[in-house]
Amino acid sequence: MILLMTQKTNIKRKAAQAAKSRKAIAKKTAYKSLPKDKILKGDCIELMNSLPEKSVDVIFADPPYNMQLKGELHRPDNSHVDAVNDSWDQFDGFQAYDNFTRDWLTAARRVLKDTGTIWVIGSYHNIYRVGSIIQDIGFWVLNDIVWRKSNPMPNFRGTRFTNAHETLLWCNKGEGFNKYTFNYEAMKAFNDDIQMRSDWVLPICSGKERLKVNGHKGHSTQKPEALLYRVLLSSTNKGDVVLDPFFGSGTTGAVAKKLGRHYIGLEREDKYIKLATDRIKQIETLSDEDLEITPAKRSLPRVAFGTLIENGMIKPGTILFGPGKRHAAKVRADGTVISADSKGSIHQVGASVQNAPSCNGWTFWNIEVNDNLVSIDNLRAEVRAAMN
Ligand SMILES: C[S@@+](CC[C@H](N)C(=O)[O-])C[C@H]1O[C@@H](n2cnc3c(N)ncnc32)[C@H](O)[C@@H]1O
Repeated sequence: MILLMTQKTNIKRKAAQAAKSRKAIAKKTAYKSLPKDKILKGDCIELMNSLPEKSVDVIFADPPYNMQLKGELHRPDNSHVDAVNDSWDQFDGFQAYDNFTRDWLTAARRVLKDTGTIWVIGSYHNIYRVGSIIQDIGFWVLNDIVWRKSNPMPNFRGTRFTNAHETLLWCNKGEGFNKYTFNYEAMKAFNDDIQMRSDWVLPICSGKERLKVNGHKGHSTQKPEALLYRVLLSSTNKGDVVLDPFFGSGTTGAVAKKLGRHYIGLEREDKYIKLATDRIKQIETLSDEDLEITPAKRSLPRVAFGTLIENGMIKPGTILFGPGKRHAAKVRADGTVISADSKGSIHQVGASVQNAPSCNGWTFWNIEVNDNLVSIDNLRAEVRAAMN
C-alpha cells in the first residue's frame, strides 16, 4: 500500500517536473508566426507549446497506441510478422500513457483555433483511454469514425476475432464551438450523392504506396493516403493549416500538399523526418480548378421560390409535378402552390401530398418542358449562377 502511494507520488512529481521544463523550453523557442509547410524536430508537446495560441485549423493525430506487444509474432508458415514494437510505442503502464495523452491533448487544444477540430486515430489498445481524456479536457466528440480495413492482417494464432478496424475520434473544442468546417455537400458528392456515413471501408497502406527503406518498411504504422484524403476533404478548406503532432512518414503532409492545405509536422526521429521530407517533395498540388469543392448549401445565396416567378422562369398557373408525375400542384402568383388537398409553400405542399413530416420542395417538384420533367432546383441553380 505504502509502496503504491510512493509510486503514485513519484509519477505525479515527474509529470510536474516535465511540464515545468516544457514550459521553459517553449518560452525560449516561441514561434511568432506559424512555420507553415515545415517539419519540426522534437517532442510534440514542447513544440506545440511553442506555437502561437489558437493558430491552426485542424489537428490530425496518430499517436503511439501503447500496443504492449510482447515477443515475436510468426505466421503459420513460420515467417516473421512485422509488428509494431518500436521504442516510441513503449510506456511504463497505463498511468504513464494517460499522463502523456493528457499532456499532448492539452497542448493541442491550446494551439487549435476555436473554429478548429481535432482527429485522433487509435485502436482498442488506446482509443477508450484517449476518448475519456479528450472529453475530460473539454473537447466534444462529433463522430467516432470506424475505419474498417478491407484487407486486415489475420489473427495468426486463431485465438481472437480478426482485428479489422481502427477508430477515429473527430472532436470540436466543446459544446458551444460550432463554427467548425464540415464539407457536408462535398462528402455527399464524393459518395455518389449519398450522405457519407461514419463507417469507412478502406484498405491498409500497402503496395507501391508503402514507403520502403533498404527493402524494409520505412515506417511501421504508415497510414493510407485515402484515409487522410477523407479527413482533410471533409474538415478543411483550401489554404487551411493542418498540424500533425506525430508526423511519422508524413502521410498528413503529403495529402495536405496535394489538396492545397498547409501542414506542420512534428516528429522526434530523424529517420522519419527524412522519409517524410523526401516523400512530400515529390507531391504536386492539384490545380485551383480541380480543388473546387461542392459548397455547403448554407454558403450559397438564398433564392426564394418567388424569385423564379418574379423573373419569369415559372409563370403563375404552371403545374408542378412530383417524381413520376404521381403528384401535382399549381403555382400561384404569390409563390405558394396548391394541390387537390393543400396549399402553402413548395415544401409544405410537397410534404402534404406525400403524407410526410417534411419535404425539400426544391428537389421534389419539377416542371414539364418538351415532355420531360425538369427539377425546379436546376432553375434555382441558374438564378444562383447569375448572382455570382
Ligand atoms: C503512429 S506513428 C504516426 C505514423 C504516421 N501517421 C504515418 O502515416 O506515417 C507515431 C509517430 O510519432 C512519433 N512520436 C512519438 N512520440 C512523439 C513525441 N512525443 N513527439 C514527437 N513525435 C513523437 C514517432 O516517432 C512515430 O513516428
